[in-house]
Amino acid sequence: MFFAKETAEEYQLNPEKMPKHIAIIMDGNGRWATKRSLPRKAGHKAGAEALEKIIYAAKELGLEHLTVYAFSTENWKRSEEEVGAIMDILRFYLKNYFKKFVKDDIRMHVIGDKTRLDQDIQDAIEEIEALSKEKQGMTVHIALNYGGRDELRRAVGKIAQDVAEGRLAAADVTEDVITNALDTAGTPDPELMIRTSGEERISNFLLWQIAYSEFYFSDMLWPDFDKKELEKAIYYYQNRERRFGGRLK
Ligand code: FPP
Repeated sequence: MFFAKETAEEYQLNPEKMPKHIAIIMDGNGRWATKRSLPRKAGHKAGAEALEKIIYAAKELGLEHLTVYAFSTENWKRSEEEVGAIMDILRFYLKNYFKKFVKDDIRMHVIGDKTRLDQDIQDAIEEIEALSKEKQGMTVHIALNYGGRDELRRAVGKIAQDVAEGRLAAADVTEDVITNALDTAGTPDPELMIRTSGEERISNFLLWQIAYSEFYFSDMLWPDFDKKELEKAIYYYQNRERRFGGRLK
């Protein structure tokens, strides 16, 4: 007879096969709110609270990097009201709550094109990154006005400029040169990518970095996502065979 694995203990995570880096597409805030007859912004607020819990859960599990998709280059197309509400939540967390993470030894890092964000948000990002840059516990990368294609476009621009100004020969543009020109330079690629809410798409997230990532699609809406579901995703990852294009011996 098959019994659902009810508790995290039953997932029996192997400490030697823990991923170093998990990336998450936090999807389903809007549906979570609609199901409760609440405005969409209430879903985003609940989503931010879920994120806070997942950050601590990831740290307890010993992850080194957690990257979350908070606002994409495409999200500007939402209503002015919704964009404003998401920006207000980000503002609040950046200016107040993230300091608590820093006290708990967490480094905060933002990826994406910050230049389109309001100046006070850009200043708050700069402040929290500087304040937390020596923290060793875990790094949280928040993707803000982020798009994988836009990140590649910006990286290609930087490399082209290096070539045009004679610092780099075109023949020397290796995969490492591209990796190091991305917003994620210095961060290992995610071994595991999670998307919530039952959708099975990448939506322009970390296109270069997920070349060999495993994927876990959860039916949970993001505000309901918890430590147990994170452990389930890791359990699933640990029990897959990773071949990197090669053959298992
Ligand atoms: C996707 O759900 C979620 C977003 C576009 C916003 C995610 C933002 C947060 C969780 C807040 C982040 C906060 C901090 C502090 C970084 P959706 O609105 O697309 O949901 P739906 O598909 O059900 O409509």
